Amino acid sequence: MTEEVNLIIDGELVTAPAGSTILEAAESAGIQIPTICYHDACTANALCRLCVVEVEGARVLAPSCIAQVSEGLRVSTNSERVKRSRCTILEMLDSTVDLSDSPEILGFIDDYQADRQRFPDAERREPPVLDDNPMYIRDYAKCVLCWRCVQVCAEDAQYTYAINFSGRGFETQIGTFFDKTMPETTCVFCGQCVGVCPSGALKPKREWLLEQGLPVEEVMQATRMGRKNRRSR
Ligand code: SF4
Ligand code: FES
Repeated sequence: MTEEVNLIIDGELVTAPAGSTILEAAESAGIQIPTICYHDACTANALCRLCVVEVEGARVLAPSCIAQVSEGLRVSTNSERVKRSRCTILEMLDSTVDLSDSPEILGFIDDYQADRQRFPDAERREPPVLDDNPMYIRDYAKCVLCWRCVQVCAEDAQYTYAINFSGRGFETQIGTFFDKTMPETTCVFCGQCVGVCPSGALKPKREWLLEQGLPVEEVMQATRMGRKNRRSR
């Protein structure tokens, strides 16, 4: 039988399986915690830190997507300190990344009343759109570096290892080994990366072409030709 532990979340007694995370325990009690990098299908990596919570007695805020429950833990998911931290994370993200295709994150910006002008002089990430295959485009100006695409391309799903990251700090970006085009990589165009991307950085080619204003017939023609060419390679 799975061992269970009792903890207090936002003043409420919650019982959760030992080994589960604070995020899972909170969700089971109907308490919502905002997340960006977390996805049910991926190994939690605690990169974005939006899910932080305050644990009584702990010096630093804990990322609830990886912090485990324990007996007697007292957690606050929405204290002033937590809200301030989330707000700053959102403001920093907004100052460097194009979030126009991230409805969920824009919703968080509203929820936390983040100041969208807080860092007006921040350098924005503005790499050009990569359109190198008939299936999807990569617009890393919209990438929030959640890592989900890399994870599903690797051990979390596909074991294809077509994409990875390069650079450090501000220069960190998702890409292919040696900056190869997608058809030159091990990519099998399964679409899983596109499916888990929360920000529109990876987008089906047809959707993107329609957004560019191309008539449907031309979109179909362009993508059909591309797919055929790829098969004949
Ligand atoms: S491309 Fe999308 S899924 Fe991949 S790291 Fe960027 S935002 Fe996340
Ligand atoms: S959702 Fe927990 S750190 Fe990103």
